[in-house]
Amino acid sequence: MLFETLATSGHEQVVFCNNPDAGLKAIIAVHNTVLGPAVGGVRMRHYANEADAVRDVLRLGRTMTYKNALAGLNIGGGKAVILGDPKVDKTEALFRAFGRAVDALGGRYITAEDVGTDVNDMELIYLETEFVTGVHQVHGGSGDPAPFTAYGTLQGLMASLQRKFGHEEVGKVSIAVQGLGHIGMELVKLLKERGAKLFVADLDPKLVERAVSEYGAEAVSCSDIYDVPADVFAPCAMEGVIDAQTLERLKAKIVCGSANNQLASHAVGDELYRRGILYAPDYAVNAGGVMNVSLEIDGYNRERAMRLIRSIYHNVSKIFDLSERENISPQYAADRIAEARLTSIGKLKLPMGRTRPRMGHLRGEH
Ligand code: NAI
Repeated sequence: MLFETLATSGHEQVVFCNNPDAGLKAIIAVHNTVLGPAVGGVRMRHYANEADAVRDVLRLGRTMTYKNALAGLNIGGGKAVILGDPKVDKTEALFRAFGRAVDALGGRYITAEDVGTDVNDMELIYLETEFVTGVHQVHGGSGDPAPFTAYGTLQGLMASLQRKFGHEEVGKVSIAVQGLGHIGMELVKLLKERGAKLFVADLDPKLVERAVSEYGAEAVSCSDIYDVPADVFAPCAMEGVIDAQTLERLKAKIVCGSANNQLASHAVGDELYRRGILYAPDYAVNAGGVMNVSLEIDGYNRERAMRLIRSIYHNVSKIFDLSERENISPQYAADRIAEARLTSIGKLKLPMGRTRPRMGHLRGEH
């Protein structure tokens, strides 16, 4: 059953890590190393059951392959999940045990932050392995990727505004931001600086309060955020938020946000396209974080990172071009561009695994 799933999802390798002394139950999914070592964050989450965790890590690992390929990065795709509640189950031993599991893969998988993990967790992993990014800048790292993901999301948003409204002036539009976590709050800040009218929702009332008092946003309940009369809907919370029901309620003309796997299915994406709602594919828009951490492999340089992240505008525009030319929805267009690169480079290179990536932060290049 599991092997069948792996065959369908195309994963090269899936590792189950179990260390009862450290309380660690984790899964590392190496999806594809054709372009380079598999890079993707480690998510910590309390899953209802183990099957949900497997499904999540496999889907996220595959998404990373597409994200990294489309972003033009020389890295493959993978992801890890740690089963546990990030609010209560985090310990030094847990992350060090996870670090050892990552190290045992010899560089085929390089980890980073994701939902439920942060820079401090990466520092604990770094005690056990060099194959971790998003560590503190004093260690040659690039720090928390979230502000870079938010900045990249802004680039995707501007490309979408240009395509839909013929201008990229954020100050002329209204935006509904769903989720005010690491990315959402930073995005709200960037949008406010540019004069946007903002609607916000989060499960955590304290975050909503902050967005209202610091950035003048209008608070909306989590259930009503789909209905607000905003030009743009920006999902920055969890996956699968656009489905057959929520789609009916959207007033926005653009969907562009940071959340991974925003569409419940490709059919939902087709329906958005049919209705003339411009969907900026999530994995093109939210690549800023992985672009930033990927530079740690060669030696981090902030200026280079910002330049790379600004290329998201171009990447998203290219997707819209193909979508218009071929009359296909943007998410199919994005998949096509990513797959074309994987296929053409795959013919040139051997799969990774024989060479260890030389991590820039160990060479002190930053
Ligand atoms: P986070 O965990 O810091 O924030 C998520 C926020 O969404 C939380 O404040 C939570 O209360 C809120 N939320 C959850 N369900 C909600 C609902 N139904 N309605 C409204 N709010 C809800 O996560 P982070 O780092 O901000 O990431 C957000 C999304 O962006 C995730 O899907 C993540 O996978 C994706 N992403 C994050 C990257 C990063 O650099 N952190 C990189 C690429 C993608």
